[in-house]
Amino acid sequence: MPFPEPSNSVPRRATVLLAKSSITGAATREMEDLAGRLQAVEGVGHVVFAFSEQGAPSLRETLTALADAGFDEVFILPLLLPMEPGFRVWIDRAVHRWQAEHPQRRWPRVQVGEPPAALAGMDALLRDMAASQPSDPASTPASALHTVGSLIPAQKYRVLVCQGGPCNNAGAALVWGHLRNEQKRLNLRTSGEGTMSAKTSCLGPCNLAPVVQVFPEGTYYGGVDEAGIDRIVSEHLLGGRVVDALAYAPLPVKQPLRAPTEAS
Ligand code: FES
Repeated sequence: MPFPEPSNSVPRRATVLLAKSSITGAATREMEDLAGRLQAVEGVGHVVFAFSEQGAPSLRETLTALADAGFDEVFILPLLLPMEPGFRVWIDRAVHRWQAEHPQRRWPRVQVGEPPAALAGMDALLRDMAASQPSDPASTPASALHTVGSLIPAQKYRVLVCQGGPCNNAGAALVWGHLRNEQKRLNLRTSGEGTMSAKTSCLGPCNLAPVVQVFPEGTYYGGVDEAGIDRIVSEHLLGGRVVDALAYAPLPVKQPLRAPTEAS
């Protein structure tokens, strides 16, 4: 990520365009193009992009790179319409967790903006859209849908990542994004005994949020963060052993979330 040279007098500002996910190179190039065009807007500073779920760079990677490069102010602009309240909560938590991990270092001031619908300029956006060359969905012949097949690899594990309200408020989007990035990096579809993953609605034990469940055993994991995903991947999905420190067995009594020290 190329950064402009520091200036001694003017605070260095960066704007992060935060999208949800990119599973194709085309989507990432779209973000690169948007960041490049917005770079010309006065006052936004250096413009970069990040993804909150699947795709690189993640928000954490981007914020770390900007802090390393000495930026004084970072403005995060969520690109999500309509804005989900949980997405804003997730951004705040992600920033706080990122700063809490290295309390000694100097962090830039981070601010979070409103999504574009709440800003002036929608009229210009609509003019842009009207001037573009929209494609007609009906122009894709139905017969084209039958010309390509899908691979069905042998897979033992299925990881469900809860996206219910309490889990989202506790950082489930970050958990999902990290799992998907690791799934791609380690080729988990075919590594070991094979793994697929999926988002779900509420899995039940909301007080243990963020909750992840691994099948075929149906193991419940609670309080899962990125480090927890790393353990579940290496020990359970690739090693075949349940991560007892993060697992919650079915019991006839309510179980509270264990403190991290007890879960380590
Ligand atoms: S919202 Fe995740 S378990 Fe209920």
